[in-house]
Amino acid sequence: MSDFISGYKIIMSFFICLVISGCSSEKDKLLTMGESVYNGNCKVCHAQGINGAPIFGNKKNWAPRASQGIDVLVSHASNGFGLMPAKGGNTELTEDEIRAAITYMLSAVEE
Ligand code: HEC
Repeated sequence: MSDFISGYKIIMSFFICLVISGCSSEKDKLLTMGESVYNGNCKVCHAQGINGAPIFGNKKNWAPRASQGIDVLVSHASNGFGLMPAKGGNTELTEDEIRAAITYMLSAVEE
């Protein structure tokens, strides 16, 4: 009987976890962080394609960029690239935040 109760508790805590989504995967956390970095720092250019910025959600714009691989994209976005200012102009951003924002942007053009 106590086995049944502890099994029940494990199953219940799993569902409670799902409901409050305190158990989201690492990828989900990265995307949540990336979304807020993007909204605060990158959207201003990347939503509309200011100065030729690859547009959020536009697969055609992103395909040649994405093919360079995430590490190259992170380094370009961190150091500046063409008309893209280093870190989108916010020098406070960490490399992890830049990586998260790019992961979020790439997630919008994944199949
Ligand atoms: C002031 C406008 C502006 C802001 C703000 C901005 N970008 Fe950009 N971004 C650009 C432009 C313009 C390009 C295209 C540069 C080129 O190809 O010459 C670009 C290109 C990129 C690329 C592709 C680089 C490559 O290698 O092809 C990435 C990745 C990127 N931006 C990420 C970001 C991230 C992350 C942020 C927010 C932290 C951000 N950008 C904020 C204008 C901006």
